[in-house]
Order: sequence, then structure tokens, then C-alpha cells
Amino acid sequence: MTTVRIALDARAYDIRIASGLLDQPATFASVAGQHSTALIVTNSTVAPLYADRLEHSLRPHFSRVLQCILPDGEQYKTWETLNQIFTDLLRHHCDRKTTLFALGGGVIGDMTGFAAASYMRGVPFVQVPTTLLAQVDSSVGGKTAINHPLGKNMIGAFYQPRLVVADLSTLHTLPPRELSAGLAEVIKHAAIADVDFLAWLEAHIDALRAQDEAALAEAVARCCRIKAKVVAQDETETGLRAILNFGHTFGHAIEAGMGYGNWLHGEAVGAGMVLAADLSVRLGLLAPADAERLARLIARAGLPLRAPDLGAERYADLMQVDKKSEGGEVRFVLLNGLGRPVLRAAPMAEAQASMAAHLQPSQPAPPVQPQAVPSA
Ligand code: NAD
Ligand code: GLY
Repeated sequence: MTTVRIALDARAYDIRIASGLLDQPATFASVAGQHSTALIVTNSTVAPLYADRLEHSLRPHFSRVLQCILPDGEQYKTWETLNQIFTDLLRHHCDRKTTLFALGGGVIGDMTGFAAASYMRGVPFVQVPTTLLAQVDSSVGGKTAINHPLGKNMIGAFYQPRLVVADLSTLHTLPPRELSAGLAEVIKHAAIADVDFLAWLEAHIDALRAQDEAALAEAVARCCRIKAKVVAQDETETGLRAILNFGHTFGHAIEAGMGYGNWLHGEAVGAGMVLAADLSVRLGLLAPADAERLARLIARAGLPLRAPDLGAERYADLMQVDKKSEGGEVRFVLLNGLGRPVLRAAPMAEAQASMAAHLQPSQPAPPVQPQAVPSA
């Protein structure tokens, strides 16, 4: 087993990474609450696969283990679904010692974390991520949120879990499209922080897509170490943590502009990284050969390289409301060479030139929706 520590003083915690952790009660001994309740929050896809197995492992540690099964999908990352968690907690008279277990991908993790942050003003929670994206990114670092009709991830809290348990064997049931979406965040970590890791990915991308467990273990651990270092320095994104948003300014615009759930988060980040690399080249920061190298790896991960054609003005509108914007200026995470991210304002005309060079001309844009506003 690999353990990565998130060094946050009183809020420090471990990420445990190995195959088979879910079925071992010992995995959860450190968060045991002998006279209290565990509530597993999951969804209708993940529950039949893993909820009873997690419940079995939690039984020795809690007096009661309950399950809260939510509908599956980004479109359910809402107040209404969040309220279902609170309803279950109240219906079962759950007290302050109740521990929530987020069993699923980033949608379940973000919502459960937010529920834990606010139920009785804060109860403990544990992340049990079951998608590659959640194991390498969303379960780590304490960003929790729901979407609002007027913006993605706009309502939430920074609230750290007590433990993260990444059982690699759960990835075997993940559809290939979801695995590729997770690889986008893996490539992101390498692009912003570790050129050796990028070379390793070039050598192992086929093994990762084929679900080779040793390769997955290495990739998850390396991403968690990179993220741990960033989060330990800037837990609440006052500066440095923004580098984890490489590709996300364009990516969130794609997700929101196409309607949540149509482009997966990871797919939008993949195409967004191609655009951010192209913009870095246009601004004289990145060598064209390095941008091409990154795009080749993104393509080999099974991700789209070209963004949908929403229209230049619509992209500009969507990107304007990004959380990194300041004083009306859109700021992008760019690469000043591979592994060297910088946060920079860029002229919209340059960003539009990048998009013009990388759009899917054939993909029709959906009609403009008032709720389609992105945020990091
Ligand atoms: P997701 O949670 O929607 O999961 C993807 C799909 O896979 C879902 O249908 C899910 O039910 C299914 N699934 C999950 N585990 C499975 C398994 N083992 N086998 C079979 N199917 C399984 O999507 P995601 O990509 O995990 O997460 C995306 C979300 O994460 C977005 O809402 C994004 O905003 C958020 N996010 C948050 C952070 C953060 O720091 N908090 C970082 C990145 C992304
Ligand atoms: N995924 C971006 C962050 O955690 O900050």
C-alpha cells in the first residue's frame, strides 16, 4: 500500500492507495466511532457494485451503518440532491459524531463533503473515490461544492476529509470513457509539475488505458503527491493552488456551454489543455514542439483534442465569469515551458485565435441557456 500524507497541521490526513482496501475492515480503523453512525453516501450506479462491501468493512467500527443512495449524474449535483442527504441524516436522528463516507466519483465526493461541512456545522467525512478522476484529484484537497443554475461548483466550502481510501480494484468496473476522463487530470498534474512524470506517462499510457494495476497505482500516487504539495502550501487557493486549474478556464466554458454532463469534466479539461498550451505558444511562453507533445499524449489517452464550436463571443462570455478573473480580465493557467505553470491575463483576441485553430466545426452548439456559467 502507498500512503500519501496531506500535511495540514490539525487537518492533516492520509490518502491510502492499494487494490482491495474496500474489503478490509482494518482500512477504516483510524476513523472508527464505536458508539456512532456511519452514513455511506453513494449513487444508483455505484451502490450495487460497492456499497454493501463498504458497509461490511465499516460494521466492526460503528454501531450503525446506513446507506443514502442518490441519483447518478452531474445534473444532480444540486441543492435538491444535497437536501436528500440532510433528510436521511435527520430522519435517522444522526448526531454530531456521525461520519459520512463518500463512495463514488467526484460528484458524490463534492456533494458529500459539502453535506459534512454543513450538517450540524460540521461532521467528519471520509472519501472513498471509485473513479480515476476522483482518485487522482477530486477526493484530495477539501474542495466541496454543488452546482447552481447560474454557475458550476459555485456554492461550497473548503472542508478536508479525515481519510481518503483509493481502492484501485474499483476502477475495473469504470467505463473506458470515464477512465479517459480521469487520465486528463493525470496528464494535467504532469504538465504543471513534473516533466519526468510526463515522460513516464508517454511510456505507460497504453498500460493505463488497459487498466494495468501497477501503472494505475504509480499514476494515482504520483498525482496525489503533486496535489498534496500544492494543497499543503495553499489550502484555500489564495494563489499557488490555481495551477491545478490548467486547462480548466476553457474546460469549464465547454462543460457549461454544452450543458452539464454532455462533455465529461475530464474531456473538457483535455481539450482545454490543448487550447491553454496553444495560447502559451502564442504568447511566446511554450515551444510549439512541447504543445504538440502534450496534444499527442492527450489524444493517446482517448480524449477529444478539439473543442465544440460555441462561437467566439459565447466562449468569451463564459470565460469572463471564471473564478480566476480579476477586474474583468480573464486569467489563464499557462505553461512557461513544460512543468512550469504561470497564472496570466491574456488578451481575449489571442484566446479566440487559439480556439479558432482548435474547434470542431461540425459540432452544433446548443441554444444559449441562462444557467450556463462556469467557475473553477
Ligand atoms: P462522476 O462522479 O459523475 O462519475 C463518473 C461516472 O462513473 C458516474 O456515472 C458514476 O456513477 C460512475 N462510477 C463511479 N465509480 C464507478 C465505478 N467504480 N465503476 C463504474 N462506474 C462508476 O464524475 P467524476 O469524473 O468522478 O467527477 C467529476 C466531478 O468532480 C465534477 O463535478 C467536477 O466538478 C468534480 N471535481 C472536483 C474536484 C475537487 O477538487 N473537488 C476536482 C476535479 C473535479
Ligand atoms: N481540482 C482543482 C483543485 O483541487 O484545486
